[in-house]
Amino acid sequence: MAGAAMLSGCSHGPQTSTHPLPGIDVTGKASLREHAANARLLFGFAVNTAQLRSNRSYRAIVEQQASIIVPENAMKWRALRPSMDRYDFEDADSLLTFAEKNRIKLRGHNLCWHQSLPDWFAASANAADAHRLLVDHIRTVAGRYAGRMHSWDVVNEAINTRDGRADGLRNSPWLRLVGTDYIEIAFRSAREADPAALLTYNEYGLESASPDGAEKRAATLQMLRRLKQRNVPVDAIGIQSHLHAPSTQGAGPELLRFMASCREMGLEIFLSEMDVSDRDLSAAIDTRDRVVAEDYRGFLNTALQERRVTAVLTWGVDDASTSLNAEQPRKDRLAQRPLLFDSRYQAKPSFASVRDAFDARLGAAPARAAAPSTFRLPRL
Ligand code: G3I
Repeated sequence: MAGAAMLSGCSHGPQTSTHPLPGIDVTGKASLREHAANARLLFGFAVNTAQLRSNRSYRAIVEQQASIIVPENAMKWRALRPSMDRYDFEDADSLLTFAEKNRIKLRGHNLCWHQSLPDWFAASANAADAHRLLVDHIRTVAGRYAGRMHSWDVVNEAINTRDGRADGLRNSPWLRLVGTDYIEIAFRSAREADPAALLTYNEYGLESASPDGAEKRAATLQMLRRLKQRNVPVDAIGIQSHLHAPSTQGAGPELLRFMASCREMGLEIFLSEMDVSDRDLSAAIDTRDRVVAEDYRGFLNTALQERRVTAVLTWGVDDASTSLNAEQPRKDRLAQRPLLFDSRYQAKPSFASVRDAFDARLGAAPARAAAPSTFRLPRL
């Protein structure tokens, strides 16, 4: 695809929606970046560096649509640390070069997580050196890009109430090796290394109406309040927003109350990893595209009522780049269609839903109490 990406309207075969949508230009003033900017938002994607390098259509969408991007994997420990005493910054450096060349902001993801740790970590990290290992990693990585990053996911997914701790913390290798202070240590090290970046706590499941979601919201607020009381430098929260169609359970007010509590702590809010899994929907592409689009619209119509939401990113650019086929495959093994562009880089009905939700925010009163939302929180 060269030039403008068009809304998919005609049936190009199995991978694109046959849903009757008029083809319209989606670039320039019609891009999500522009509609987001009008609504005081940044919009973008989690990106794959190899795709950016080699896939012209993929790259064109990112260049046309994004005002912010985040590496899906290129800045994780596993990608940066081939061995304990060696760093590999090739992909991360190239991503920052791409972002700065295209005047796109860059989020870092992530400095401390229980997953995506290199193979040597389990064999080499121990209670005696894990603190130094964490601090050295953060100082080296965040220090390398100091002053050039929009934000960092400093700690990712530290809460897991199913692990049974009173504080709701996940039984993470970092907790076991460093102790409960690992979160504070990570944020203080990141602030010291890059005073300019917005230091973010990033979490999934906060948007869920399930009992797990309610417990996770409570435990997350408890942790954030404790960090703030100790003047730990946390600037933002990433609500990952991995939704499951149809998102009919529950209601948005619990999420809005959670976000209001984050705002009252002085936190900025990012919808950091949006996608809508169609795993539980019927096979028909038009049905899936319609329901997924409705869920994007409903969720954003609710979440964007919170004025401290400043960025919305989807976890992937086109349907072929989603991680959901590996992580949550459909029983019929059909490829999922969770994102805003299909696997032929055509904008889908969900593109229009997100664009319309940005426009709808324009008219929202700045601090009005939450109106009854059309969005139904998904059940995890
Ligand atoms: O690069 C290796 C390749 O060399 C090897 O041949 C292949 C098969 O083993 O694995 C490749 O690494 C994979 C990596 O993605 C890059 O594709 C890992 O196995 C795989 O586990 C990894 O999955 C990523 C996952 O996080 C774990 O890091 C997904 O792409 C990524 O979308 C997912 O993203 C997470 C966020 O970081 C946090 N929030 C949830 C989100 C979705 O799970």
